[in-house]
Amino acid sequence: MPVPLADLQLQYRTMKGEIDAAIAAVIRDNAFIRGSYVDAFEQQFADAVEAKHCVSCANGTDALYLALAALKVQAGDEVITTAHSWVSTSAMITHTGGNVVFCDTDKSTFTIDPAAIEAAITPRTVGIIPVHLYGQPADLDAIMAIADRHKLWVVEDCAQAHLARYKGRQIGSFGNAATYSFYPGKNLGAMGDAGAVVTNDSALAEHIAMLARHGGLTKHEHRIEGINSRLDGIQAAILSAKLPHLPAWTKARQDAAKFYDAGLNQIEDVITPAIAADRTHVYHLYTIQHPLRDALAAHLTAHNVQTAINYPTALPFLMAYSRLRHRPEQFPNAFGQQSKILSLPMFAEITR
Ligand SMILES: Cc1ncc(COP(=O)(O)O)c(C=O)c1O
Repeated sequence: MPVPLADLQLQYRTMKGEIDAAIAAVIRDNAFIRGSYVDAFEQQFADAVEAKHCVSCANGTDALYLALAALKVQAGDEVITTAHSWVSTSAMITHTGGNVVFCDTDKSTFTIDPAAIEAAITPRTVGIIPVHLYGQPADLDAIMAIADRHKLWVVEDCAQAHLARYKGRQIGSFGNAATYSFYPGKNLGAMGDAGAVVTNDSALAEHIAMLARHGGLTKHEHRIEGINSRLDGIQAAILSAKLPHLPAWTKARQDAAKFYDAGLNQIEDVITPAIAADRTHVYHLYTIQHPLRDALAAHLTAHNVQTAINYPTALPFLMAYSRLRHRPEQFPNAFGQQSKILSLPMFAEITR
């Protein structure tokens, strides 16, 4: 039996009626750009993640760009982020004019190490972007304490961690803003690209909305120079149809992870994902570590089990950052883990 890494068709089949009706409604109402379906999803998502405002946009990369641009990152500003993430996190720092400063990760959670943040701060540091990688929150109390002490903003990259909690509180409400991706394979996924920024700061939300919509909130209003980064109506309606299922899908992922843990913890060479105290993990990815990762991946492929490496090269060592001339010893955890990590099949509908 082939086991895919994720099975988007299976999810569609469980709710085909709802999705098809949502798409048909948008077509019937000609509500392709902005309009009631987008407004409704923004409200529903803000409620779901316990934020005051949700500004939807075209994808999770734009969400990061918009949040950083609204926080007015200037040329020469330093923004601290993790060495272990998807490239959008750091690339958007550069695109808003800032300088990327990478920090190593905490060895057991794969998330940014607060001690490394503290060591990386200079007079030019303006903000921190922690990533709740694979679905587990970063150490938000420690990160927020550093940010408060040094008067830095925090943008949480929540692309992989919809509904995850830190000390009982939803992620995304700790920093100044939080960004989400609804890429199809994400825990809440559209049927195309989609993203959002959430924030409790009304002025910031308005600024982000203007930036995303040609610089204004109504047609022919251009208070600032913006870009075009909108969630389209069809994606909004699909996301609204899926959102009520997200808590159950999250629970199903967590149950699957428990089942994996119980079996894989019997195997000495396998390190299963560790969850830090007081955090919930929503398992966007179930990523193990193994000293013979490539051989294990080949073995699983030979047995029709699809795996992935998220990500094969830690960010400081990508060609895109060769200008920074980083060395492995600067990021012992992120560098050491890039050859051991392997993501196993994980999706809400996976069976034992
Ligand atoms: C951690 C992280 N940040 C940002 C993004 C960017 O999201 P998108 O693919 O929707 O642009 C992703 C998803 O790919 C991600 O995993």
